[in-house]
Amino acid sequence: MSRLYNFSAGPSILPESVLKKAGAEIMDYKGSGMSVMEMSHRSKVYDAIITRTRDLFRSVLSVPDDYEILFLQGGATLQFAMIPMNLLSRNGKADYVITGNFSNNAYKEALLFGKEISVAATGKDVNFAKIPSQDELKLDADADYVHICENNTVFGTKWKYIPDTGNVPIVSDMSSCILSEPIDISRYGIIYAGAQKNIAPAGLTLVIIRKDLAREPLPGTPTMLNFRKMIEKESMYNTPPCWSIYVAMLVLEWIEELGGLSVMRERNREKAAILYDYLDSTDFYRTPVAREDRSLMNVVFSTGDEETDARFVKESAENNMSNLKGHRSVGGMRASIYNAMPKEGVEHLVDFMKRFAGGR
Ligand SMILES: Cc1ncc(COP(=O)(O)O)c(C=O)c1O
Repeated sequence: MSRLYNFSAGPSILPESVLKKAGAEIMDYKGSGMSVMEMSHRSKVYDAIITRTRDLFRSVLSVPDDYEILFLQGGATLQFAMIPMNLLSRNGKADYVITGNFSNNAYKEALLFGKEISVAATGKDVNFAKIPSQDELKLDADADYVHICENNTVFGTKWKYIPDTGNVPIVSDMSSCILSEPIDISRYGIIYAGAQKNIAPAGLTLVIIRKDLAREPLPGTPTMLNFRKMIEKESMYNTPPCWSIYVAMLVLEWIEELGGLSVMRERNREKAAILYDYLDSTDFYRTPVAREDRSLMNVVFSTGDEETDARFVKESAENNMSNLKGHRSVGGMRASIYNAMPKEGVEHLVDFMKRFAGGR
């Protein structure tokens, strides 16, 4: 068996110990005589899994009591619609900060439902290489919410401050940074994330919602997209993504064993520094991202020459690495170094980058 260093932006690398545990339990989960994939979501055995996963999210992420934890489907993308459908029923207004493609998609989706959906700031003129400062945000005190994308998977930027939005709740897409560091959840109204980066395989969408925001949705909102209903049914209105929830439990146990999110943040800082320090030390590679806004999860770089970038990607694949090609809208390279990427993987990449630059 040989495993590559997988730098995919998502679905992404999972911790090896988690894969081994899921493998060991695949035929017979804890004496149940069946795989988690095969069991009823209403069974006692599965109830213990989903309850433990919820409890682990609450303790690992320090989720306050006035927030609910939901396990939904449809990816982060369905939240782009579910959020306006549930939150715009008060004033019909929301502010969106556009820091990349996903926040732009979220904004476009909200336009389907709201009367006044505004752009609070956009980084389009600088090709999303930086996060707007507090002074640059044009916020409406009557908005039902302000939407941000915490970590921009494609452009490699990350919010390093939580904007001051007064009494307007912040809704944050944390798909590509959730569980990478501690979060002060009380500063947010809703946090959501597709699972397929730091949580579990695709299929699960985590939503953490302040209880008072689960209000009466817009008329015509389908039951499956009604936060209140999902809370009332404890994410079991229909069949939940059972397998993904189970793997999330194993991932959360792994994080707990390592020492929790403070330890995870230190590991992630250390890994990212290996890559950024090297990028800063050479003029062969460049990164467009403003230094103060650099993501710890998605590191974007290039050689400045398309052909050389393509050769880099090809040769990296011949050197035990995969998925280093940048997103089609940015080009160049992108190394996604989520929680499960070991430090050795980043060192292996930097060694290769040095050899590649040396042989130019
Ligand atoms: C920040 C961010 N938001 C949203 C999405 C879309 O997520 P999904 O594919 O789960 O709908 C992604 C996917 O990569 C993402 O990185």
